[in-house]
Amino acid sequence: MVSKLNSKAASIADLKLRTKNRIPKFAYEYLVGGCNNDRAIAHNRDALDHVFLQPSYLSRTQAASLKTTALGAEYDAPFGIAPLGLSGLIWPKAAEYHAAAAKKANIPYILSTLASTSIEDAAACAGNNLWFQLYPPKDQEIRLDLMQRAQQVGCNNLVVTIDVPVAGRRPNDIKNGLSVPPKITLKSIYQTVSRPSWAMATGLNGMPQFASMQPYMSKLSNLEDVANYIRSTLKEPVNLSMLEQLRQQWPGKLIVKGVLNVADAKHCAAINVDAIIVSNHGGRQLDVACSPVEMMQEIVDSVGDKLEVFVDSGVESGVDIARYLALGANMVFSGRPYMYGVGAFGKQGANHCIDILYSELEQVMNQLGCSSPDELVKFLK
Ligand SMILES: Cc1cc2nc3c(=O)[nH]c(=O)nc-3n(C[C@H](O)[C@H](O)[C@H](O)COP(=O)(O)O)c2cc1C
Repeated sequence: MVSKLNSKAASIADLKLRTKNRIPKFAYEYLVGGCNNDRAIAHNRDALDHVFLQPSYLSRTQAASLKTTALGAEYDAPFGIAPLGLSGLIWPKAAEYHAAAAKKANIPYILSTLASTSIEDAAACAGNNLWFQLYPPKDQEIRLDLMQRAQQVGCNNLVVTIDVPVAGRRPNDIKNGLSVPPKITLKSIYQTVSRPSWAMATGLNGMPQFASMQPYMSKLSNLEDVANYIRSTLKEPVNLSMLEQLRQQWPGKLIVKGVLNVADAKHCAAINVDAIIVSNHGGRQLDVACSPVEMMQEIVDSVGDKLEVFVDSGVESGVDIARYLALGANMVFSGRPYMYGVGAFGKQGANHCIDILYSELEQVMNQLGCSSPDELVKFLK
């Protein structure tokens, strides 16, 4: 998995820097931002930095294999791509590039309800590696239709996000006028023309849409109506009774994303949810949120025998993936790094990001003397 792009970017930090220089400031700040004072982002970093692993040099048996299973399927690595809404704002077709890269590397790809690529187009790129993330519309007909479309394209894994009962407060997005409809100001025009490759790609592909939601909005003619529609149809917070209903409606595997406490994890186990993603949404919703690092072991101890426990938030390297695996995660997702890949290099950047994470994780495991992802828990210091 050695990429020619290594001479230009050999770490996620390198990809991030290139992305910063290639996309407009309002798009970059939408991507990197957390909420309020960005304390949850800082805390995610700090918590991961306090997880240490202890090598065992003399008892190693074999070289590391990153292969793993999740929800009954085999994957070539224990990490995957988290759902990212408004993906086309960062780079046109970003979701398609991620979907295709996930298929190539045989890792899971979760398409957001609010991605700029539709369920059908993502499935054409990701094949069996497609999982679908649902923000459940309050309109039952639309909700069922979205689920049916996911099933029709062969998607078996539905991810329901529970940690957005209200929109996160993101000062940069407010200042940048990053709303629908976007506020066109002299500042945003300057930011766009100073990033010509982004401007050209966006010019060719058009403004990003909420592609999976498009069929339900065909009668809406302007962006403001689209925004009002999305706000009103997705405003229902997910509670336990809605989850129970979704459990009955979805015949495949059900995954709940955004769990941060043991009580919620137990509720999920009690209604036969198949997996949870312990997450604070990458620090984008609650600035005083605890980190998944602090909750992982307690949650794994209480429900790990009943469902699979995945995690995301704050991963910036394969070393971080090793840390979360050592805390008991079955699969580690991340969001921003894959967008940095595409922001930096377009289509091949999606593959390159996966290559970097893969090589870094493989190196850590071999250095530790660890032969498989689920063995990493033994190396936690
Ligand atoms: C730009 C952006 C858009 C996101 N959109 C969604 C979304 O539509 N649905 C969702 O469940 N989570 C969404 N998330 C959260 C991610 O799925 C994931 O939880 C988070 O990015 C993990 O943190 P990381 O970026 O530090 O890896 C988004 C995150 C970012 C950065």
